[in-house]
Amino acid sequence: MSAEETHHSADVAARVERRWATIFVIVIVMMAALAAFAGIHRATMPQPRVETTDPSRIHLSGEFVESNLGSVLEADGNVTVRAIGQQYSFTPACIVVPADTPITMRATSADVVHGILIQGTNINTMLVPGYVSEQLMRFTRIGDYLMPCQEFCSFGHEGMWGKVKVIDKSEFANRAKAGGRLSCVGE
Ligand code: CUA
Repeated sequence: MSAEETHHSADVAARVERRWATIFVIVIVMMAALAAFAGIHRATMPQPRVETTDPSRIHLSGEFVESNLGSVLEADGNVTVRAIGQQYSFTPACIVVPADTPITMRATSADVVHGILIQGTNINTMLVPGYVSEQLMRFTRIGDYLMPCQEFCSFGHEGMWGKVKVIDKSEFANRAKAGGRLSCVGE
């Protein structure tokens, strides 16, 4: 190879390297911009604050005792859903919520890591023992949505399914009049 050819190959290599470096800088800037956008809009986000629970005591006292699980209509018209995951079910196994309403789901795990995924939506969060997972959601379509556990949680994982039932807003308000926590278990 002549000196001139060697020089030429070095030029080509430098040009290719610069091109790839530019592409990766663009990719990194785009990812940072997307993360910032998603975080600002809370569409997908690391939680803004960390709340902890004691998984060995959640059944006994505090926010996640059984009588407090389910859906509740708040005074401002929003709905809060509280749920727990445990090997191998969700409580409540059927979550009832109204359509066209801001919903805050607060959930945790009583044992190992589980996941909540609501099919046909972008709702997908992990339930980690010791922490509260909070997820904002809103449904526009009435109907039943499957809610499989989406984190492998040992041998019963594939049988761990829940359901979300989205009902008409006024029907939900009617049911809520009776007070207590709503669910659709057994419906
Ligand atoms: Cu719970 Cu997989």
